[in-house]
Amino acid sequence: MSDDVLNPLAVALNERLAEAAPEVLSMLSALGKRLYFPKGILSQGAEAKQKGKRINATIGIATEGDGPMVLPSVASAVDAIDPAQAFTYAPPAGRQGLREAWRDKQLAENPSQRGKKVGLPIVTSAITHGLSIAGDLFIDPGDRVIVPDQLWGNYRLGYEVRLGARIQTYPFFADGGFNVAGLASAMEAEAAERDKLIVVLNFPNNPTGYMLTDAEGQAVVAALKARAEAGTRLVVLCDDAYFGLFYHLGGPSMTESLFGALSNLHPNLLAVKLDGATKELFVWGLRCGFISFGPGRVETADVVNEVLDAKTRGDIRASISNSPQLSQTLVERALGADSIDAERSEKRQLLQARAQEVYRVARDSKYADYFEMYPFNSGYFMLIKVRGVGAERLRTHLLDAHQVGLIATGEHDLRIAFSCLEKEQVEPLFETLAQAIDELR
Ligand SMILES: Cc1ncc(COP(=O)(O)O)c(C=O)c1O
Repeated sequence: MSDDVLNPLAVALNERLAEAAPEVLSMLSALGKRLYFPKGILSQGAEAKQKGKRINATIGIATEGDGPMVLPSVASAVDAIDPAQAFTYAPPAGRQGLREAWRDKQLAENPSQRGKKVGLPIVTSAITHGLSIAGDLFIDPGDRVIVPDQLWGNYRLGYEVRLGARIQTYPFFADGGFNVAGLASAMEAEAAERDKLIVVLNFPNNPTGYMLTDAEGQAVVAALKARAEAGTRLVVLCDDAYFGLFYHLGGPSMTESLFGALSNLHPNLLAVKLDGATKELFVWGLRCGFISFGPGRVETADVVNEVLDAKTRGDIRASISNSPQLSQTLVERALGADSIDAERSEKRQLLQARAQEVYRVARDSKYADYFEMYPFNSGYFMLIKVRGVGAERLRTHLLDAHQVGLIATGEHDLRIAFSCLEKEQVEPLFETLAQAIDELR
């Protein structure tokens, strides 16, 4: 697209990128290049808030006295929260206090992110929305998105159906662990015909429940760096939806995101972190997540972060305007609570106990003839490869004959969400599974 159809504010942002990190400019999609944050009602309103102390008639809400207009039947359900912190609009990038609190949480839990020039997390309407923003900024029709063959199916809807990209898969596992060589060769093959690739890393993974070991994590970073050094522009999306739920089944796994190690690594590599309160704080329906950028060039990272922040705010303003204030206030308060670490740890231990029980039961040799267990050590899920019966047929039979619900994710793969199983239900579940397979055989 030529510059003369771009808004001057978009041109100015693109010029800043051209000077600070031309590689990042070339990663942007056509929409990403067009995006800017307008000097419209929001920025005029922000000025009026600062200077219009006598009469401020800019705000796009209704007020009464010092606060927002509010109906008692709405406010009474959340009476512990000031209506101004619950029902008013939040800024497009989210509440500043929440952004800073989430950044502090990221740094506390990810030592490799410390000291890196990384953008302040921008609030999204949860991780799905963060992935959608990343797609808007960086994916054009025909672009390739590299993902292992065990993937969250919604990537297809978001990137193939909505944006016209093509998802290129490679086998997730090799030799009982993550297939780093498969990732490297998928990137190499696709890079033969294009300058830019989008790579999605989702650990702990949905649907397998697999988290990388330290050695695998280092190998993934090395493979991405080598591809960047070979001249491919890489937008690496770290989908950290299940972050923190690490159980170390069968051996120790990594306990941090690859985002830290990938940030400021190489000019051709832009790391993007998608994470959120949805799974980590068990508030799925609050729709509160974050997108954070980790530019390659450390010396100009601040400029790149400012530009990407503005383009992201423009994308949010154009699509959902802003994320819910009440959700953000609840998450911000929770993050500030003294007991939050202990509360999260207690729930993680509960999930870990269920995961350990699944790990114990599913490995019983009496089931060897029925299914194979894919490696898992984290998150909400585990996956089995069923022997001799189609997964969809088994799924419907389990529902109809045994009132048991599982998810078929492939021809032979069934996903078990142990996150919603009581520990006592694990053994009966696997017994029923074996019985159902017998019935179908
Ligand atoms: C891998 C992965 N990414 C993202 C999401 C979406 O999370 P959110 O509810 O925060 O949009 C999910 C939820 O199922 C998921 O499994």
